[in-house]
Amino acid sequence: MIGPGPDTMRAQRIALIGAGGVGRALLALLRRKAPELEARYGLAWRLTGVAGRRRGWLAGPAGLDVDAVLRGEPGGGTAAGDVRAWLAAARPDVVFEAIPSDALSGEPALGYLRAALEHGAHAITANKGALVHGYPVLRELARAHGRAFLHEAAFMGGAPVFALFRRALPAARLVRFRGILNATTTLILETMEGGGTFAEGVARAQGLGVAETDPSADVDGWDAALKVATLATVVMDRPLALREVTRTGIRDLAPAAVRAARAGGHVVRLVSRLEPGPGGLQASVRPERLEPGDPLAGVRGASLLAHFELDTLPGLLIGVHEGGPHTTAYDMLCDFVTAVGGGDAGPA
Ligand SMILES: NC(=O)c1ccc[n+]([C@@H]2O[C@H](COP(=O)([O-])OP(=O)(O)OC[C@H]3O[C@@H](n4cnc5c(N)ncnc54)[C@H](OP(=O)(O)O)[C@@H]3O)[C@@H](O)[C@H]2O)c1
Repeated sequence: MIGPGPDTMRAQRIALIGAGGVGRALLALLRRKAPELEARYGLAWRLTGVAGRRRGWLAGPAGLDVDAVLRGEPGGGTAAGDVRAWLAAARPDVVFEAIPSDALSGEPALGYLRAALEHGAHAITANKGALVHGYPVLRELARAHGRAFLHEAAFMGGAPVFALFRRALPAARLVRFRGILNATTTLILETMEGGGTFAEGVARAQGLGVAETDPSADVDGWDAALKVATLATVVMDRPLALREVTRTGIRDLAPAAVRAARAGGHVVRLVSRLEPGPGGLQASVRPERLEPGDPLAGVRGASLLAHFELDTLPGLLIGVHEGGPHTTAYDMLCDFVTAVGGGDAGPA
């Protein structure tokens, strides 16, 4: 058990950018776990800011109404004009960020995270775009301000991969990676295997909260490409630009071909890879026909699976069974404890 640190003697002021699926799951989890956080880590919290596209930048230093925010209502407070005015009003110790970002720039999440760290708050994100486009800058800002920048939720929400590499795998080097990192495409391909249409698969993924209204980022492989780049950037310390990931999505796959593979005992899945090649590290995302004995072939529904080859371990499998906003939210709660509950807040 980790004891309370010097930072934990009063309620932590927390602020949330993005109260969508993940943001609200996080708030609900923080509330459910409040007695345990207090008893085990001496950690209490108060919501002093919440922001979203429609609700704007709402700050209430005395505390916002969490139930109202969970219902999708404003939750009180007063409106600030922009992120910096909001930070000044909400005075958060910890900023959680869970908004969509542009795959090609990481914005606006990247700018919000910079502002949070410059304000002197710990920054915790679920945003792979911000990580791929801004990891060195954000890590450096955190160091300069003596704060934590943590991002466990940005890769396989619900599998603490970064903490695993940071804490539990000393003197190990990631050599090669294969994984199924995108649940929306698995759900679509499964639906097609069963005779359903692409659109029915998208609707199923949206119903589970794993696909956005516009599923293009998943379907065209951008989401998985960002995750692969995140892994290389953080775990291999090899910043990988999105353009370095060879990317083919599932949009052009014929349902008949997916069904035929299934009839032959195979499955088609969107597979992400990182591997050494003649010109250095190769990264790719593409649909592959998987052999029946391949562990990746057993991935179903909203589950994810990663196969890591380390220089010390030939095959380390890490999976998330039926992931979604709730498992991603748990990663953010872990980061919260790491940042202010006396846990490890190392560089990864
Ligand atoms: N869903 C998952 O299972 C999952 C798993 C891992 C990582 N993530 C990542 O977590 C993040 C959030 O995902 P989600 O599923 O919670 O998305 P979501 O349900 O669509 O919610 C997004 C939230 O962000 C707000 N928002 C959008 N643009 C904004 C802007 N420019 N400024 C301020 N707020 C803005 C939205 O406000 P409005 O409601 O007003 O539009 C909404 O509250 C994404 O980066 C996603 O990739 C999600």
